[in-house]
Amino acid sequence: MSEPSDDALASRSGLPAEFLYLREDYPRDRWTALPEIAAFWLQMHAGFRGHQAYMDGLIGQWRESGDLQALHGQLVPALQSFLQHLDGHHRVESGQYFPMMRAIEPRIGPGIDLLDRDHDAIHVTLEAMFQTGLAFHQAVAGKAPDAPDRAQRLADLIESSARPLLRHLEDEEDIVIPLVQLRGLPA
Ligand SMILES: [Fe+2]
Ligand SMILES: [Fe+2]
Repeated sequence: MSEPSDDALASRSGLPAEFLYLREDYPRDRWTALPEIAAFWLQMHAGFRGHQAYMDGLIGQWRESGDLQALHGQLVPALQSFLQHLDGHHRVESGQYFPMMRAIEPRIGPGIDLLDRDHDAIHVTLEAMFQTGLAFHQAVAGKAPDAPDRAQRLADLIESSARPLLRHLEDEEDIVIPLVQLRGLPA
């Protein structure tokens, strides 16, 4: 278990200044005609933001209606797909792209370390979401009396995990997109 630090995902409001030099050289307002891999990266992240917003919307509807069956029918498959895609995305990043980026731009190594730590932190949350989602599903399927309580726990977890996830997506983009544009990646 690593020590909590002031750049921890749960509390930071952006990348530490020493990791922002790539974005300073290639600021967001110039992220227009991007290399294919960078455009695809942003597209993937847009997908996760949309997916998070969709789940937040389902939870909001349920908080209004109290319709547990509707929540179950829509949120469980949405959560399954979210967990699967995000886990796969992080594996590819940490396993394939980040090592390449460290080699191309050693100066950003500590920034990549931070992103890898984010992945570890998010993974713990994804695991908790999986278990909490499974407990909700089983409670509804088994018509258990605590099903509303299980729904509440899942809803709270999904909502509270949004902020750190969105923080990670944005901070990762601030390193990865300029790096791909300015330094290139091997084919
Ligand atoms: Fe990531
Ligand atoms: Fe990512």
